Amino acid sequence: MNGVRFHAPTRIVFGNGVMSQFKDIIKTEIGASSFFLVTDEGIIKSGIAERLISQLSDVTVFDEVEQNPKNNTVDRAGDEIRAVKPDCVIGLGGGSALDAAKAIALLATNPGKIEDYEGKARYTQPPLPVLAVPTTCGTGSEVTWVSVITHTARKFKMSIKGPEMFPAVAVVDPDLLSTLPPHLVASTGLDALTHAVEALTVKPATFLTDFIALEALKLILHSIEAAYRDIQGNTLAREEIMKGSLVAGLAFGNADVGGVHCLSESVGAILDTPHGIANSIFLPFVMEFNVPVVAEKYAKIAKLAGLQGENDVASAMTLIEYIKNLALKLDIPTFRETGVQENQLMEIALKSFENNSNSSNPREATAQAYLNILQKAYAEE
Ligand SMILES: [Fe+2]
Repeated sequence: MNGVRFHAPTRIVFGNGVMSQFKDIIKTEIGASSFFLVTDEGIIKSGIAERLISQLSDVTVFDEVEQNPKNNTVDRAGDEIRAVKPDCVIGLGGGSALDAAKAIALLATNPGKIEDYEGKARYTQPPLPVLAVPTTCGTGSEVTWVSVITHTARKFKMSIKGPEMFPAVAVVDPDLLSTLPPHLVASTGLDALTHAVEALTVKPATFLTDFIALEALKLILHSIEAAYRDIQGNTLAREEIMKGSLVAGLAFGNADVGGVHCLSESVGAILDTPHGIANSIFLPFVMEFNVPVVAEKYAKIAKLAGLQGENDVASAMTLIEYIKNLALKLDIPTFRETGVQENQLMEIALKSFENNSNSSNPREATAQAYLNILQKAYAEE
């Protein structure tokens, strides 16, 4: 198919404090009257869920979403939502809660289990409308059409997507980040950085996704350290990192992600490593692998970070060092510190090669190439 395509149908409401107008947003943007809220225990404990629930009159709460959400959890919620029959699903939380919400909205209107819908538009009925409220600065899921669910028996992350799976509305309130613990600011912020780097460099990138990804990179690179140091006190950093995360979502949602996500999704499925941590670990190593084909684009990112080398390759290498140091400053653990064993590297490499996004990576990556990257990451003390 020829021609550049860009699809971003989600209505976005962005601003500090917009959560307090949730009732009005529902009224004007979606018009639903009964809700199924998908979230996790942490969001309930933090009090954020209550601020939302108190504005709704008919809401059923499902708070059992775990990190790297699992197929059994989504299937259980699917049974519940079919009994409740709400008008709308609200996803409140990080990427796990938002991805689970999209999958549960699909099961509300379609029979069977979530694994039956792995792939693109395998459903027959459109899912219920989803209203997505991110509480971290990384996922981007509030504006993408994909839900990533871990199949525990297969130790594989399934991608479930389709044009009707974009959230109908995204309510993005940077103030919700105020109480996010620093380690989650770091890992989710670096997830957003990875989204922007990969969106800019993958094979399906277009001039539109480049434009947005570069803006996302500017915002994220300028704010991530300040946000990590003082998310509560630094309003500007909080706002910029949230904007960066949102627009990085628009970019990768229309381009794709690449090798970093192939590795992090495999590690997440096998070892249950948090998604942002895994991305932070692999980002510099995959960039190093991709330098021969995308040095020019990496040089553009380097410039945004205030770095420059003698030529594009030198700029790219300086940027990779900068990103390694950034992960150190943000106290991201090394690959070994996540508990991975050397004898698991081959399984991770094979699963990374099988990942749906592998074909989007700018440089062809074989299972052996992934193994080499994993071994380099593993060698890091
Ligand atoms: Fe991601």
